[in-house]
Amino acid sequence: MGLFARKTNRNPTSVPLFGVLLVVLLLTAIFLFEVDTLATQTKTIVGYNLKPTPWHEFPAKKFNNETKIARASKIFQCSYLSCGRSSNEPTPFSNQNENCPAFFRWIHHDLQPWSKSRISYADLMEVKKFASFRVVIIRGKLYVEYYYDCVQSRAMFTIWGLLQLLKRYPGRIPDVDFMFDCMDKPLIQKDESTKPLPIFRYCTTPDHYDIPFPDWSFWGWSEINIAPWQEEFKSIKEGSQRLSWKKKHPYAFWKGNPDVFSPAREALLMCNDTKEWGALIMRQNWTQEVLGGFKQSKLANQCNHRYKIYAEGYAWSVSLKYILSCGCVPLIINPKYDDFFSRGLFPKKDYLPISPDNICPSIKTAVHWGNKHPARAEAIGKSVQDFMERLNIDRIYDYMYHLIVEYAKLLDFKPTRPLSALEECVESLYCFADENQTRFLKRSATLPSQSPPCNLPQQANRQFIFHFTVINGYPHHQMLQDQ
Ligand SMILES: *[C@@H]1O[C@H](CO)[C@@H](O)[C@H](O)[C@H]1NC(C)=O
Ligand SMILES: *[C@@H]1O[C@H](CO)[C@@H](O)[C@H](O)[C@H]1NC(C)=O
Ligand SMILES: *[C@@H]1O[C@H](CO)[C@@H](O)[C@H](O)[C@H]1NC(C)=O
Ligand SMILES: *[C@@H]1O[C@H](CO)[C@@H](O)[C@H](O)[C@H]1NC(C)=O
Repeated sequence: MGLFARKTNRNPTSVPLFGVLLVVLLLTAIFLFEVDTLATQTKTIVGYNLKPTPWHEFPAKKFNNETKIARASKIFQCSYLSCGRSSNEPTPFSNQNENCPAFFRWIHHDLQPWSKSRISYADLMEVKKFASFRVVIIRGKLYVEYYYDCVQSRAMFTIWGLLQLLKRYPGRIPDVDFMFDCMDKPLIQKDESTKPLPIFRYCTTPDHYDIPFPDWSFWGWSEINIAPWQEEFKSIKEGSQRLSWKKKHPYAFWKGNPDVFSPAREALLMCNDTKEWGALIMRQNWTQEVLGGFKQSKLANQCNHRYKIYAEGYAWSVSLKYILSCGCVPLIINPKYDDFFSRGLFPKKDYLPISPDNICPSIKTAVHWGNKHPARAEAIGKSVQDFMERLNIDRIYDYMYHLIVEYAKLLDFKPTRPLSALEECVESLYCFADENQTRFLKRSATLPSQSPPCNLPQQANRQFIFHFTVINGYPHHQMLQDQ
């Protein structure tokens, strides 16, 4: 008021006081209206103003624990006022680089459909209808356009992973534009009549063009208390060493949610007999776990059996990496879906395949074989645990790095910031995150890397690209007799 008062003093015959007040009121009203419009239209990383993906429905998030004003100011502040300047200067490397794990070759395989035709802007606009969001990186800044909400905090942790990648290799991530879907089923089927369209997701199959990308849980899964990968792996490995191989229960163990329309999981319930089938099958009740502080679901306490069963859920399941880390023999029931890393696994070396048509007898055969050949069974458990140990968080960033670099080479247009995309940065995520999410984000924050990314193997070689479900067709009992 002092300012206006002084002005009127200097020029007493000008606008009367109530006129000034009117203008101030009007401006305030316009401002509030604009903020409200922004708040009801701005799509955000936590799901404000977004509907669940129509290709996989889930209950829409409710934000009715907040007042309208609190919500508006949060959206305004987090979406528009959080991101400032940030450096994109490359930091020098002080270490040598290593070779990437051999399965990184799959990057070439996954991008091969566009190696000649390349990726056009029109391709992206066409595949947009299957995307939950679009990521555009320009000179080290990350912009996201949101189309649909993702379950739980998948979007937040996926974007967080990308922000950490930018932090890890400043100045080295090329400008890029890609679509991302955060649900569990690949959608772009390979057949003669469909044109390949590129979309990133957490999994793929040999029959889909979908490009697999590391899933959100490598940075933590706050809803069910699974720690960022480097911590979770360490704790599982320690847990797995509590009992020697001899002392581990000589049967197979599975714990999960069987009520997800998964034929394999339903069939598993029939094998729950350690004497007859060599299997113990337990129900995981997540509602109860959340209420009870996750005492029964700690993954590190679930490595006390010599065999651990993996059964896909409704589709791809995030649980594979935790099962493989246990140092037990993984018994894998004919998987349809691949993680980016699961294509580096080999039957008999890293796991034993279980026939989908004959689940209980097949488990029994595997358990029987392993108990007769304890040294070989233990070696399988060790081999796959070592594989997962080599897949440390540095390698996860390297996979993202190489995939994005190779993908960006295929774009036949120059990425630009879309008008409706919002910048996301570390601060905007902290701004939106609830207390539990913040804790997980902080724990998985990274620093610029001292080492360059690992060396990407050259072109895919045909022999290597031999999908493990193909090998799975091999009759199980025959395979074990071969040994
Ligand atoms: C399987 O059997 C064990 C003990 O025999 C039991 O505790 C468990 O609840 C059973 N699992 C299911 C899914 O019924
Ligand atoms: C899971 O636990 C909750 C809380 O204890 C209970 O209400 C619910 O019925 C349980 N669900 C199943 C499938 O057992
Ligand atoms: C309201 O609930 C949502 C999730 O349903 C949560 O993310 C948010 O932090 C909550 N807000 C407040 C103010 O408690
Ligand atoms: C955070 O986690 C605790 C323990 O699991 C839970 O009781 C609490 O409701 C969570 N807070 C939010 C905001 O989700």
